[in-house]
Parts: sequence; structure tokens; C-alpha cells
Amino acid sequence: MSKSATAVRSDLRERLHDVRGEVRFDEGLARYTSMKIGGAADVLAVPADADDLRAVLGAARAVKAPVFVLGGTNVVVRDGGLAGVVIRLERFKAIRPLGPTRLYAEAGAPFPTLSHAAKDQGLAGLEFAVGIPGTVGGAIVMNAGTQDGEIADVLESVRLMTPEGAVRDIPAARLGFRYRGSHVPPGILLGGTVVLRAQPKEAIDARMQAILAYRRQTQPLHLPNAGCIFKNPPKLSAGRLIDELGLKGYRIGGVQVSERHANFMVNTGGGTAKDLTALIRHVGGRVERERGITLELEVKIVGRA
Ligand code: EPU
Repeated sequence: MSKSATAVRSDLRERLHDVRGEVRFDEGLARYTSMKIGGAADVLAVPADADDLRAVLGAARAVKAPVFVLGGTNVVVRDGGLAGVVIRLERFKAIRPLGPTRLYAEAGAPFPTLSHAAKDQGLAGLEFAVGIPGTVGGAIVMNAGTQDGEIADVLESVRLMTPEGAVRDIPAARLGFRYRGSHVPPGILLGGTVVLRAQPKEAIDARMQAILAYRRQTQPLHLPNAGCIFKNPPKLSAGRLIDELGLKGYRIGGVQVSERHANFMVNTGGGTAKDLTALIRHVGGRVERERGITLELEVKIVGRA
């Protein structure tokens, strides 16, 4: 490590001293990701509340350290880990009703928990979220969804902390939602408000159970994975394309194209980000050469090689 990097770290250590949540240095990130892969964060911070988060952002800004919020499910951290401050919003999990058909969910709440909370209130519109194992914040940034719907369909507004620490409410219409993407402005998402429709709980629950059953049957939920690796090309299924090339079960190191769903890659034990990126290149290359289609990544690959 260069001298200046060492100086930045000791400066950060000092500035983060008064943070009330947790602060850990050189924290391995594999345990925080659904793929169970990834190097260490220079600093991992778990802020206690919004004021604490503001203090973490202030410290990072003062030393010009990058900040990354790690939800952990649709993301692969490279083996060299992440520079700067990685933030986990584990203590931002509250979900509360706002009037009869609205719910506000904090960014760190699991998306399936929001789906269940909506059902418990007799509110329909988030059934699709029951099988999407990310956080609400991650779901908003990615515009998470399935054929049954996406979060942009029900999101009314988001609450964001700017890099300078100001809190803003932004209407969803200004977030530039598209298929598995958005233009959320720089800052940290604190939460979002969804508007749903009143419906009998039993009907909502029946749809959620059917979605879960389909996923259990068609996806490798028993092995570490990062969800679908590639976006579906317009009118096509990435999983089917990869399957048709006979790539199910193809393996590089500890990472394998799932035998159950070809758009999933699973860590069969000891897999590295290097294995995963090599497998992505192999699969993407074959689809490109043999079918003339360039697959775009759905997972976000971050960090140092
Ligand atoms: N198929 C195959 N072989 C495979 C996988 C799929 O032939 O190995 C076929 C299926 O038989 C089906 C079609 O491809 O006819 C589509 O498959 P599936 O119903 O599993 O849906 P998908 O388009 O592959 C999408 C989302 C999933 C979501 C499921 C279930 C994307 C990229 N994927 O998958 O989301 O869970 O629908 O609703 O939009 C994710 O975003 O991380 C994710 C996994």
C-alpha cells in the first residue's frame, strides 16, 4: 500500500471514531454477498441512524474516499475488495404505513419483507417482490422486478441523503426508471414510499405462494448465487439462450452455470470473482459468436481485480 493510502486510512480511522454504529477495517465482504465471493473493504461502516450516516459520509468526503452501499445480492465484489468506505444499511429496516394504501420502507429492509408487510395490511402490488432477495434500496436503484411487475410500478417517491448530508424527497417520476435500471441522483437512498391497492389478504397470499413455488422449482435457491447474471434481451430469455448452447453445468474453478437455470451462476464452494468473471466472458462470448446477441450484465461487478 502506498504511503498516501496509509495516511488516508489513519485519517479515516480518526474521523470515524465517534460513529455510534459499527466500523470495521479490512472487513472481508464475501459473507455480506449472496454469491459468498469478494475481497475486503478498506472500511465497512454500519451507521446507527441518519445522523450517524451523515457523519460517515462527512468523514469519507473529508479524505476523498469513495463510498459504496453494499446490499449484497445483485452484486459481485471482485477479489481485490473495495476501496474506501462500504456502507451497510442494516439498521435502516423499518416499514411503516402512511395512510390506508401507502407504505414507507427504509432502504435496508429486505424486499421480500416489504412484500409480506404489504400483504399483511391487505395491500396488493408487491407480490412479485416476494422472491427477490435484495434490499428495498437495491431494488429501487436496479428497478428490480419480474414478468409480474417492477418496483417503478408502485413507487411514489424516494428519500435520499445527498453526499453533503441533506435529506431530500424525490418523486419517482424523476428517477428515470427503465428495465433493471434508474437514474437515482448521487447520494444514499434512505427509503421509498409505495402506493398499493386494497385487496383481500388471501388473494394476495395465493399469488405470492405461486411465485415462490415457481422460483423454487426453476431457480438454484439452495446454492450461493447473485440472481440472474444477464438481462433478458428484448423479447428473448437469456436463460433459454444459454441453455440452448448446452452450457448448463459448465464450470470454471468454483463457479458453475446452474444446472437448474442457465442464467444463474452458482458458487459450488471456493469460487472466486476471477472464476465468475471468466465464466461470464465464456458464456457471453459463446452467445455472441453463435447467436449474434450481445448479452448485457444484470449483476453489478465492483471493486479491485
Ligand atoms: N429457460 C430455459 N432454460 C433455462 C432457464 C429458462 O429454457 O435454463 C426458459 C424457461 O423455460 C422459460 C423462459 O426461459 O420459458 C424464461 O425463464 P424464467 O421463467 O425462469 O424467467 P427468466 O426470464 O429467466 C425472469 C427474471 C428473474 C425472475 C424470473 C421469475 C430477468 C433477467 N430475470 O427470469 O429475475 O426471478 O423471471 O419471475 O428479468 C433476477 O432479476 O435476478 C432474476 C433472477
